[in-house]
Amino acid sequence: MRKFAAILFLALSFGAKAQVQITPQDKERASALVKQMTLEEKCRFIAGARSFYTYAIPRLGIPEIRMADGPQGVRNNTVSTLYPCGILTASTWNRDLAHRLGNSLADDCRARGVSILLGPGVNIYRAPMCGRNFEYFGEDPYLAGETAAQYILGVQEKGVMATVKHFAANNQERARHTMSSDVDERTLQEIYFPAFRKAVQEGGVGAVMDSYNLVNSVHSTENAWMNKVVLRDQWGFEGIVMSDWTSVYSTIGAVNGGLDLECPKGVFFTPEKIVPLIENGVLEESLIDEKVQHILQTFIAFGFLDKPQKDESIPENNPQSAATALDIAREGVVLLKNENALPFTKKSKILVVGNNGIKMPHGGGSGEVTPFYTISVADGLKALHKKVTVIEDKSLLEQEMASCTDVVYCCGFNRDLEGEAFDRPFSLTPKQLELMERIQQNLTAKQHLTVIINAGGAVDMSGWRDHADAILMAWYPGQEGGTALAEILTGRISPSGKLPISIEEKAEDNPSFATYFDAGSKQSRTSYSEGIFTGYRGYDKTGVKPLYPFGFGLSYSTFKYSNLAVEVLPDGNVKVSFDVTNTGKKDAAEIGQVYVRDVKSSVPRPLKELKGYDKHFVGKGKTVRYSAVLDRYAFSFYDTASHSFKLEGGEFEILAGPSSADLPLKATIQL
Ligand code: BGC
Repeated sequence: MRKFAAILFLALSFGAKAQVQITPQDKERASALVKQMTLEEKCRFIAGARSFYTYAIPRLGIPEIRMADGPQGVRNNTVSTLYPCGILTASTWNRDLAHRLGNSLADDCRARGVSILLGPGVNIYRAPMCGRNFEYFGEDPYLAGETAAQYILGVQEKGVMATVKHFAANNQERARHTMSSDVDERTLQEIYFPAFRKAVQEGGVGAVMDSYNLVNSVHSTENAWMNKVVLRDQWGFEGIVMSDWTSVYSTIGAVNGGLDLECPKGVFFTPEKIVPLIENGVLEESLIDEKVQHILQTFIAFGFLDKPQKDESIPENNPQSAATALDIAREGVVLLKNENALPFTKKSKILVVGNNGIKMPHGGGSGEVTPFYTISVADGLKALHKKVTVIEDKSLLEQEMASCTDVVYCCGFNRDLEGEAFDRPFSLTPKQLELMERIQQNLTAKQHLTVIINAGGAVDMSGWRDHADAILMAWYPGQEGGTALAEILTGRISPSGKLPISIEEKAEDNPSFATYFDAGSKQSRTSYSEGIFTGYRGYDKTGVKPLYPFGFGLSYSTFKYSNLAVEVLPDGNVKVSFDVTNTGKKDAAEIGQVYVRDVKSSVPRPLKELKGYDKHFVGKGKTVRYSAVLDRYAFSFYDTASHSFKLEGGEFEILAGPSSADLPLKATIQL
């Protein structure tokens, strides 16, 4: 172990890459327009005119602005590229790919005249059951924040506004309109807010969407502490706070609570409801002006008042977008288990079983996209391999199994089983488990079983994991998913995705298990009783071992980590670097992770927290220098007395390695 001493002046450094800035000129122009608007026009302007369009005021040159979901492709009355889902993007741990995803989504928007994309979704993965986990970026705020910031920069640098959602603590779908997420301030600031903060401060996001749920008994759209104190005063946000589609529950509460734009249309934000309240002195007109100002200054900064959004030169079915979807899928699939089963050889006779192998599934709800085409696992394998049999009629299973060397069982969820507005079980369906058992019963000693899972998070593997020779977590890999999976199965590429979540052995091992949903409570509340100890922070605390730890993922190659160095940069940030050597027989990409441990603290802190990562393609026998830069947040905790992040001096350990459970490199640093 190496020791480093340093006196640190850690300045707040926010990445200033290609952010869209609201300039003083934009603000002046907006304010001049606000002055020319009638009160009725202002009240109309702060709500959608119809679903997915804002209100136009042609006499002032303000056009209607089109919005569309998000986050994994452009939705709403269009056919478009279906990208891999959010959790797969996070599994790539590849900032460049997240950025490229943003670029491609923006192209898809420009091709259709869409100005505002309703993504990314950055709610933290708390438990496997949440129906929308697939849209989000996993359990760790640092990884989620890095992925979100790059996605947003990529979208916005092409003239499309991104919307980070759902602010905040929308970590389950069940009872989402009535449920209060009861979370203490420190936990919000350390776990559930950071991805939003990065979206604002590093991504320069144009819009924030308030969630359906209540936070500590207050609806998000009425939560002045969140929308004004945190978002605007603490983080400096100057863009638009919009509601989710019908997440406004009152006029006075939402006007005072900091909401700027009611969506999809005016129910509480209408002249009929607002004007009398102003006339009777209940509401100040200046509050309405402020909302109009926020919306207009952001539209002006993005150029929405000055140029048509539709770019006829971009094709709707864009080969570049398809290539982005394929590259993300290639890097986000995670190999969880491999006992001499993969990759297949030329001699392998492959039998594809299961509905998910025939039709590429995706999660359900507003994140659904109607693609031009999808490539299933069966399609992908048939294109790359000679001996592939696919069975759609389960009765032939025993017969077909007798002629194959490898069974690929594609199971998991789809839009009907996992999606928006409902939660899903931890287990696979009884029918899928039954089929799994039939396959296992017929498997001979010479045959191998590879299980491919489609899900937005962990599934219960306890009953069948030991019988599978290989397990791939494919999440929802998008329209090109079958090609990516076939390339991995046949060894054309090595898998390089790593888990952005911990996978528990049993449901009750999850740190949030006891309070994921308080079914007995009349008010439907969820107490986040595990506090900051969610995901691997919780497993580290209790000592319970997850089945597959956060950051884990196998490769077809092997890697050695060495030569850790820690250096304080002139701006006060800390640079961590180390060597990664590909010691195996295959060229492959590898993700190196950096965690920080506060050795002694005045408050309870996680044993370690992810604060940096790097990913490179490393040729066999080659060594690549990895690096990560740690800013002040890497060492700080949220201090509830001063309501700010605090860095307590002392000893910190810097740990580096291939996963949260395997960190061979260690150094200490004195701050
Ligand atoms: C979802 C949002 C989505 C909106 C518009 C809502 O139901 O929660 O994420 O952007 O619908 O489709």
